[in-house]
Amino acid sequence: MANTTLITGGSGYIGSLLAAELRGAGREVRVLDSLLHGQEDIAAEQEQAGIEVFRADIRDADARRRALDGAEAVVHLAAIVGDPACALDPAVSDDVNVKATESLVADAGAAGVQRLVFASTCSNYGRMADPTKAITEEGELAPVSLYAEQKVGMEKLILGGGAGSVKPTCLRFATVYGVGRRMRFDLTVNEFTRELWADRELEVFGEQFWRPYIHVRDAGRAVRTVLEAPEEKVNGRVFNAGRSGENYRKLDLVEEIKKQTPRGTVSYVQRNEDPRDYKVSFDKIKAELGFETLMTVPDGIGEIIAALDVEQFGDPFAARYKNVP
Ligand SMILES: NC(=O)c1ccc[n+]([C@@H]2O[C@H](COP(=O)([O-])OP(=O)(O)OC[C@H]3O[C@@H](n4cnc5c(N)ncnc54)[C@H](O)[C@@H]3O)[C@@H](O)[C@H]2O)c1
Repeated sequence: MANTTLITGGSGYIGSLLAAELRGAGREVRVLDSLLHGQEDIAAEQEQAGIEVFRADIRDADARRRALDGAEAVVHLAAIVGDPACALDPAVSDDVNVKATESLVADAGAAGVQRLVFASTCSNYGRMADPTKAITEEGELAPVSLYAEQKVGMEKLILGGGAGSVKPTCLRFATVYGVGRRMRFDLTVNEFTRELWADRELEVFGEQFWRPYIHVRDAGRAVRTVLEAPEEKVNGRVFNAGRSGENYRKLDLVEEIKKQTPRGTVSYVQRNEDPRDYKVSFDKIKAELGFETLMTVPDGIGEIIAALDVEQFGDPFAARYKNVP
């Protein structure tokens, strides 16, 4: 059917809201997801909403072929996501994030898919020499983790012709935050907010490190913007997805959370972990595609606190809200 869009990882944090967004915009939506974090409830809800769900692994060639059959566009989100999750089992991460991604992209070409949106990350910028100056899409990529190295490699493959006749776009998302259908509490804003809300002692390292942030619904809106843009504006291109005014140091995040809850304490510690430090410009996606985010980090913090207050997540410390045990 025309307009059929396949979202791999479509029952995940970004994917579940994106699937609803695209369905609401009148697309036929399909999801290919192995429900790695036990999201059967989400998959069932998606089916209720008229979304076709393939409960399968992107490493499964037959499942890929079935899910791609007749699809016009593919949004590739399925992955082992985040530095800790990739470091935990590098072989699985290579199988999913590299080999299965290569196969998916090749299969999409063979299936006659028109467009591909690849979920990349601002983590590709790694540790910037001068993190006070916002980096653009043309800036140097300096990944400091296996996760980001794999994303950089897949961008090169996809933009270098690996997608065949498919017209690809890479979106380098800022770090995502906010209340999602598949909530993740292993992301900075969400985790910091939960810890302070729960009146815990939050340990923060690298408090001076810069990072850009995007709300989970805005991440979905950015994908929709690309899918709806004229082909010539997005084909073969990379866009940072976020907002230029939404770069924060970790200590700024703590201050923003403290404005909204009196609870919890913070200690700043030294740790040789996660040296990512980057400030990113999002002027290109705004100027060329007219994309602007609707939410800010303080809005997202307020939304998370309100959801925690009404116990929306049950136990917010449950393992299913993290990508590593
Ligand atoms: N969350 C962020 O801050 C962020 C930032 C930049 C980029 N991204 C990228 O966006 C994408 C989505 O991330 P997310 O935050 O929604 O994470 P997520 O872990 O919630 O989503 C990943 C989804 O992929 C599925 N999945 C994992 N392995 C699979 C496999 N082998 N076969 C089929 N499905 C599989 C999982 O079940 C999950 O639903 C990822 O590619 C990630 O790298 C995320």
